[in-house]
Amino acid sequence: MYEHIIKKVQNQVELLFENESTGHDFHHINRVRKLALHIARIEGGNLEKIEFAALLHDISDYKFNGGDETLGGKETFEILRTHNLPDHYCIEIKTIVDSVSFKGANVSDKSTSLEAKIVQDADRLDALGAIGIARTFAYGGSSGNPIYDPKISPVLHDTFDAYKNGQTHTINHFYEKLLLLKDKLHTETAKQIAEHRHTIMENYLSEFYKEWNVEL
Ligand code: ADP
Ligand code: NI
Repeated sequence: MYEHIIKKVQNQVELLFENESTGHDFHHINRVRKLALHIARIEGGNLEKIEFAALLHDISDYKFNGGDETLGGKETFEILRTHNLPDHYCIEIKTIVDSVSFKGANVSDKSTSLEAKIVQDADRLDALGAIGIARTFAYGGSSGNPIYDPKISPVLHDTFDAYKNGQTHTINHFYEKLLLLKDKLHTETAKQIAEHRHTIMENYLSEFYKEWNVEL
């Protein structure tokens, strides 16, 4: 129904994320879109809402706007309104975008609709596996975090504030988020895809420690 508007939003997002270097580039967004549509074709959900939300899920993310977690949803709403989509439709997509982000190991998710669960699962799948590892080191470097410091142990955060403000190194991010994700997924389809990606990260970490300790 809204195919032509999806295409326009895609072009807008492509421009906005053109030179992104923290792993939140347009290629990430496009993979999330493809993964979400794949999941939805098996699990159900409205494909166009999922596509809009996937395209807009990282707009004005708190990680890049000084920490305001409400801006992404607001900007999503504004962008969709400029395309004359009905208010209730824009609000639905905004609600999905508001609920996608990971808030800490012990903070529960607020994704409620099937569409929100699917976009969140797709975003989380792209945080796993070989691509997930690459994105994590790109993000860690861009935030000025060291690769690893064995003196600093991972923390399973109880609040979003503690999670977003915690001083850490990139290896900790695997324990604070990435290795926990497979058990936080909502759909069976995503859980199956996650298994292999999870193993890739576990194998990677054991190789990492071997090389770190110069075990030859
Ligand atoms: P979310 O919406 O859950 O925050 P994103 O799609 O915005 O997910 O991307 C989050 C990705 O950014 C993580 O999976 C990881 O690759 C990277 N990232 C976020 N925080 C950190 C961190 N402290 N250290 C390393 N990578 C991080
Ligand atoms: Ni994302």
